[in-house]
Amino acid sequence: MNQIKLFQPGRIGSIEVKNRLVMAPLTRCRADEAAGDIPGSAMNVEYYRQRASAGLIISEGTQVAPAGKGYMATPGIYSQAQVEGWKPITKAVHEAGGKIIAQIWHVGRITHPALTGGAHPIAPSAVKPNVVAYTHEGKVDVPVPQPLKVEEIKQVVQQYALGARNSIAAGFDGVEIHGANGYLIDQFLRDGANKRTDEYGGSVENRVRFALEVVDAVIAEVGAGKMGIRLSPVTPFNDLADSNPQAVFGLLIEELNKRGIGFIHMIEGATGGSRDEPGFDYAWARSTFKGTYIANNGYTREMAIDAVNAGRADAVAFGRLYIANPDLLERFQLNAPLNTPDPSTFYVPGEKGYTDYPAHA
Ligand code: PHB
Repeated sequence: MNQIKLFQPGRIGSIEVKNRLVMAPLTRCRADEAAGDIPGSAMNVEYYRQRASAGLIISEGTQVAPAGKGYMATPGIYSQAQVEGWKPITKAVHEAGGKIIAQIWHVGRITHPALTGGAHPIAPSAVKPNVVAYTHEGKVDVPVPQPLKVEEIKQVVQQYALGARNSIAAGFDGVEIHGANGYLIDQFLRDGANKRTDEYGGSVENRVRFALEVVDAVIAEVGAGKMGIRLSPVTPFNDLADSNPQAVFGLLIEELNKRGIGFIHMIEGATGGSRDEPGFDYAWARSTFKGTYIANNGYTREMAIDAVNAGRADAVAFGRLYIANPDLLERFQLNAPLNTPDPSTFYVPGEKGYTDYPAHA
């Protein structure tokens, strides 16, 4: 077992971790929506505490503003009450010997006014995605988003900065910027959603501008070593695509290097699906990026052990396996059988499928 690097201590950016298993960010829709999208119920605390043997937990996506919310009962990180709500969660993980960072999130066009307190969805351009939103009234088509004016873009950057500042105040060890899966930052990066003709659209230099402004604002709040960004260069998730992912994500990674950020967290392929989507060279990203490379998407125990031992990744993030296996580290170490996640309980209230998956021993 000693030669299995996945189970050995290391660093993710400047964050010291006791192993290289990462719990991926997972939307679970179990915050207190009536109280103002506040996390920190006993059940929320228990869910994260159970998973604290991961080297690093990345929180579920937490919206940086009311307009950044895209699903029912997702927690926020913009109000003082939300900060207070996160504190017992970060404390419980720390007391159990773990580390936890906040994923800060703005969904952009992937929402509906029924979820945002009436705010109209925003985006780089007025391009409607072919997606539905899940509201208390059921499934609804999302509207054509409102393109952001330049001064509004600056305000949204400040919302991410507030989310990062609040994350540290709430006791998180750092921050992951959600730059993946067709949400706001990804909408600026990829030309399927970004049709702007100003300094935020057109060339790849212009399309990475918003992402880098957010990165710079977050670095100013938490320091480069404690933060990173999740990217998904080729995922079709949320109806988004790009004509040349290697060019735009290649430039972005070169620029992230100049800033010395702690990590990139790469969804390799289609989110939760095929790893064989063409269009981006992850081996290039791994060898070019100077910080920690967290690999994600469909990794098994064997794939993860091999990837870290062979140097294709520094750490590996697991999503669905962490839903069903709170003690994933111990199961991997013993090569024990795994529980199977139940998708019908992913996004609904209650302890079933949340805190009731059994530990192995
Ligand atoms: C989801 O809630 O289904 C979801 C949220 C964020 C992602 C991907 C999926 O990045």
